[in-house]
Parts: sequence; C-alpha cells; structure tokens
Amino acid sequence: MNERVTVLLVDDQLDFVNGLSRLLLAEFKDLEVLTAESGKSGIALQEKTEVHLLITDLQMPEMNGLQLMAEVNRLHPATKVIILTGYGTIEKAVEAVRQGAFDFLTKPVASEQLYRTVGKAIDFIRLEWENQRLREMLAGGGQDNLLGESSVMRQVRQSIEAVAGTDYPVLIQGESGTGKELASRMVHRLSTRAQRAYIAINCPAIPDSLLESELFGHCRGAFTGADRDKEGLFSAANHGTLHLDEIGDISPTMQTKILRFLQEGEVRPVGSTRTLKTNVRIIASTNQPLAKKVEENSFRSDLYYRLNVIAITMPPLRDRVEDIALLARYFFEKTLGEMNIQGMTIEPEVLSYLSTRDWPGNVRELHNYVRRLVVFSGRENIDMIAVQRIDSPDQPYSILEDELGPYKTMKALVADRFSRVYIEQLLTATSGNVSEASRISGLSRVAIGKLSQRLGIDLGRFR
Ligand SMILES: Nc1ncnc2c1ncn2[C@@H]1O[C@H](COP(=O)(O)OP(=O)(O)OP(=O)(O)O)[C@@H](O)[C@H]1O
Ligand SMILES: [Mg+2]
Repeated sequence: MNERVTVLLVDDQLDFVNGLSRLLLAEFKDLEVLTAESGKSGIALQEKTEVHLLITDLQMPEMNGLQLMAEVNRLHPATKVIILTGYGTIEKAVEAVRQGAFDFLTKPVASEQLYRTVGKAIDFIRLEWENQRLREMLAGGGQDNLLGESSVMRQVRQSIEAVAGTDYPVLIQGESGTGKELASRMVHRLSTRAQRAYIAINCPAIPDSLLESELFGHCRGAFTGADRDKEGLFSAANHGTLHLDEIGDISPTMQTKILRFLQEGEVRPVGSTRTLKTNVRIIASTNQPLAKKVEENSFRSDLYYRLNVIAITMPPLRDRVEDIALLARYFFEKTLGEMNIQGMTIEPEVLSYLSTRDWPGNVRELHNYVRRLVVFSGRENIDMIAVQRIDSPDQPYSILEDELGPYKTMKALVADRFSRVYIEQLLTATSGNVSEASRISGLSRVAIGKLSQRLGIDLGRFR
C-alpha cells in the first residue's frame, strides 16, 4: 500500500501556503501537495484530481474555509479536512470539527503540531483505504485470498504465482492452521486448470481399504459391495487439480500407488486390468515433518522427492506477527458481514494486544478468536474489556488494568465497570425487559434507564 496521499493546501497568503507545502513534503513520504490561493481555485483543482486531505485557512475573502469544506465534502465525503485558524477564531474551528472537520490547527502553526495532526490524518486515510480493500475483497464472493504483507507472506505468494503456471507437483508444508488449504486453492486458481475441477481429499479421514478405490476407482465386483463401476478422484479431477491433504499419514501401500501415478501418469481402478491415462496436477500437503519421516523410513523417499519438486512452506503466525493486525481486521469485517452486524468497531489497542499473543493454532485460531469477540463479548466496541471477557469469562472486570490514580477516581472507574457488567447481565437475563430488570435489581425503571444511558448501553440491543 504505497498509494500517494494527495493534499490540497488553500490559503490566501501564498507565502504561507508554499512554506507549509515545503514542510510537509520534507516530512512525509508518498505525499503529493497541491496549493491554491482561494476556495474557488481549490475546488477547480479538486475537480481534476482526487484530493484526500484538504488543509484550508478559515478566513479568506469570498469563500471561507467552512464553505469550502462543505463544498468539497458534498462531492467527496471521504476527503478529510484540517482547518487553519488564528487565535481569535478558535470557536469557529471547533464548530468546523463539529461539522465534520478532521481537526484544526492554530496559526502560527508550530511544525511539531503540524506533523502530528497531518500525520494522524494520513494514517487515518490509509487505514480507510485498507478497510475499503478488505471490504472489496470480502464482497468478491467467498474467494479467500492469502493475506499478509510480511516479507515471508509476500514470498509465499510469489512462489505460488511462479509454480501455478507449471504442471509440477507441489508440496505444501506448514503447521496446522497456517493456510495450506488456501494456498493449494490459490495454486489451482492461478493455473491454466482454473476452470477445471479442483478436488481435495483428506487422506487419513478415509480408511486405507477405501482410500484406494476412492482415489483410483473400482470395477464392478472388485470387492464385496462393489456392485457397479466407480470412477476414482484421479479420473474425476482429469485436467484439473487433486489436493492430497495430510499426505504424511498415508500407508506404505498407498504411498507406492501414488508414486506409480506420479511416475506413469496412469491409474488402475481396483479390480481392473486396464490402466487409464489421466492428466492431473497433484498438490500434496502435510503438517508433519516429511523429511524426518523419510529419515525414519516411515515415508518413501522416492515419493518424497517426486512430491517435493516444488516446496512451499506456510510460515506460522509467530514468524509474521506484523500480519496479525491485518488478519484480525479482515476476520472482524468478515464476521460482521456473516452475522449481519452493523456499526461495531474494534480498538487499535486490541489489535496490538492480539499481535503479542501466542497463536499455536495459527490463522485458524486467530479467526475463531475474533469471531468469539464479535459474537460473545456483548459489546458495541471491541476493547480490552471485551478481550478480558473472552479470555476469562469468570472475571468480568479488573481494576488492575489501569495505572494507579487517586482513590476517588479509581473507585469511580471500577464502580462504572461494575455497573456496566451488572446492567448488561441484567438486561441479557431479562431480554431487555426493564420492569423485570427492575424487580430483580431493586432499581427503579428510571434508574435503570439513566444508568444505561450514562454508560452508553443501548437497551434495544437486548430485546
Ligand atoms: N493468509 C491468510 N489470509 C487469510 N485467511 C487465512 C490465511 N491463512 C489461513 N487463513 C484462514 O485460516 C483458516 C485455516 O486455513 P487452512 O484451512 O488453509 O489451514 P491449513 O494449513 O490447511 O490447516 P490444517 O493443517 O489444520 O488443515 C481458514 O479459515 C483460512 O481461510
Ligand atoms: Mg488443511
């Protein structure tokens, strides 16, 4: 994501605009700065280029900063606005923020303050882009992509793109939940076989006696119960891709049969004397250390070398913690979509926390965790209290998570947390029936209403 952020500076003092422009260009990378001396010429510029951030003086002849903001946002609501104002007009600037400005700066502008405020706006803009990208990906219809901007993940994607064009077998290794299945589908999707069948089979899930006929098919009468010919998966996947999942767990006999297919490109249905030529791309995957199994003689070395022509290793999450926040946000959006929940938010603090946790079950575990946060935390905003509820449901709140302050302040803080948990449990138990809640709690209906309002608890959510 190195897309440029375009900033438009508008002020009737040309020197000021130029100075500001130089400061910003020196401080921020990937920035484009446009300048204008009036609201009118600013709008003319904005019609030609997409402006992401408008920094405008409040008081200008003709069109003032507020009018300019309104005009710009009418066409481009996503454009963020920072208002520049002299000391005498701070109330107007506050009013501008109330009307939707991102922030304001007072003149003369101190460079530190400028960098901080503009930096915040740029981060915000980039975050919105990323969210947009995630939403588009989700809307793209079930087609999950291998996300991650870490260098290991980029390399994995590059390898996948490189091997997709070939017909060689691919061996995907990696711990459980690291995305082996997703990688396998991606190889298929990017290959010339994309329009043909993709079949995945979890080898150890099928008893050995059935696996052979499942893979190679059988003839009528081949064994008891084989009352007609059956096509195997190797034939069904002809011209497509067959994913042999958990290949580390197949028996020596099956290893030999699969090896023969890889050598000859032929399959022989159980009970048949004829062999069939098929054109199938094999992807094998396992979370077992296959090389070690070869050393221990529990996996055929010749099969290993055949499969291992192209090896892809899915990195565990601990080797790419920088991807965790992105994945968590993706799963968050995805869960909201699946559950049809609107307006729920997640605190950046939670994303940082998730990045420091251990995920032995890797991406799958992270996905399930985020799902639980959304569904069970009972909060509109996923914050650290939500995390704590999921982590230790028996301890609904803690007083230790804050830095120490005056007794009174701490007590009020804890009292508020207690009230929140109490009211939420009360309303959950009574499905939002305030009369019933009043009876149980001994609080008046009005008190419950006021308390809920003060704590920002939406009564309607429980009904
Ligand atoms: N890089 C990723 N980006 C987005 N989602 C991912 C990524 N990696 C894994 N997932 C998701 O995590 C879950 C587990 O992935 P997958 O089933 O591909 O893992 P696996 O390695 O095959 O696991 P196992 O060894 O347990 O079979 C899936 O829901 C998948 O969509
Ligand atoms: Mg799998």
